[in-house]
Amino acid sequence: MLKITEPEYVLMKKYIEEHCGIYLERDKEYLIESRLSDLLSETGCKSFQELHLKARMQDPAGELRDRIVDAMTTNETSWFRDKNAWDYLTEVTVPDLLHRSSETGKARVWSAAASSGQEAYSLVMLLDEAAKERGLPSLSERVEILGTDISSSALSSAIAAQYDTIAMNRGLPQEKKTNYFSKAGKFWLFDQELKKRVRFEKFNLQDDFIFADFFDLILCRYVSIYFSETFKRELFSKIAGILKPGGVLLLGATESLREFSDDFEISYYKGAVINTKK
Ligand SMILES: C[S@@+](CC[C@H](N)C(=O)[O-])C[C@H]1O[C@@H](n2cnc3c(N)ncnc32)[C@H](O)[C@@H]1O
Repeated sequence: MLKITEPEYVLMKKYIEEHCGIYLERDKEYLIESRLSDLLSETGCKSFQELHLKARMQDPAGELRDRIVDAMTTNETSWFRDKNAWDYLTEVTVPDLLHRSSETGKARVWSAAASSGQEAYSLVMLLDEAAKERGLPSLSERVEILGTDISSSALSSAIAAQYDTIAMNRGLPQEKKTNYFSKAGKFWLFDQELKKRVRFEKFNLQDDFIFADFFDLILCRYVSIYFSETFKRELFSKIAGILKPGGVLLLGATESLREFSDDFEISYYKGAVINTKK
């Protein structure tokens, strides 16, 4: 594997942070070396300096940029990731969303770093179960779910909604597998009707948050860990700006907004941290 030099590391680190906000600490040279090695050979670049130059000067459509970003993002995810957070979503949020949607006709959720879709589809399953329990299966249709990610390959998987056995074995309870998936060759397909409940789009969290309406719930989980303090501050402020008052932001279990935002009331539910917009 080609080694990156110190000056090349500085250039690539800056480029990556500029285009997706991922902030690489010192000593992360191996990450660039390993994740971009295939791209180096495919593009015929003989050094990271050459790759950087190509990305800066010869990439008008941004194709190389997207491939670099795609390679540098960590798309690790699973079904119902973190029991505490999903207990909260099951016991508090889902009934609340169904209630809000029955009153106002609509509730809105954003899975803001959706990766390959497990987070958004986990929520769809919960909403479907809860609406059926109430004898109102169509109620869950009134909860609009938007799933976004910067990674094109993660988004393609989310849109395809088909998962291999390894992905299926990560956190999906057997009864949900039986009720919501069908086998197609080596893959498992998520329910084709329920799949339509999530609209997936490419979106960079660095961009301005221009949305048609405010959200009731935002899941922005296990992504701010990759960002600088400055970007976290900016991100949480933009999120606060598009959440309804009383709306909730859930972060990953290892993330916190305490030092970065005053816009939220922090509370706890069975160990999960709940950030409620003031
Ligand atoms: C570790 S995954 C988390 C997935 C899911 N939220 C979960 O908790 O399981 C982080 C995701 O954030 C996405 N991501 C990283 N930087 C981003 C950015 N600037 N804008 C949007 N998505 C980003 C990555 O592509 C990746 O899919």
